[in-house]
Amino acid sequence: MKYILLFALIPINLFSSYISICRQCHGKNFEKRALGKSKIVNQMKKEDIKKRLMYFKTSNSIMKSYASSLSKKQIEQIANVFGR
Ligand code: HEC
Repeated sequence: MKYILLFALIPINLFSSYISICRQCHGKNFEKRALGKSKIVNQMKKEDIKKRLMYFKTSNSIMKSYASSLSKKQIEQIANVFGR
């Protein structure tokens, strides 16, 4: 039980750990078209990245499960680091 809690809490603020899965499809710096389909995220505006990720939470997109596990704060952080 203790261990489950630890695993749940430690990564919360480790930016590179929660975006490592994203990088498998979007590229290290979000410079790729994920699955040949997405926009190139690092060319999008910060505001658009945020909107898209909030939208995906309730969408039918392949992005749903990834977006759902992000907090609002994490979404803002991703948009600020990789958006224009
Ligand atoms: C399995 C591959 C995959 C993973 C993992 C993945 N994505 Fe995506 N992502 C996609 C695809 C495919 C699209 C286009 C989806 C669509 O339009 O429905 C997309 C779209 C997006 C978009 C919007 C770009 C657009 O085309 O509108 C953003 C922002 C994004 N992803 C961020 C992330 C973040 C942040 C993570 C990690 C939490 C992540 N993605 C993980 C495949 C992936």
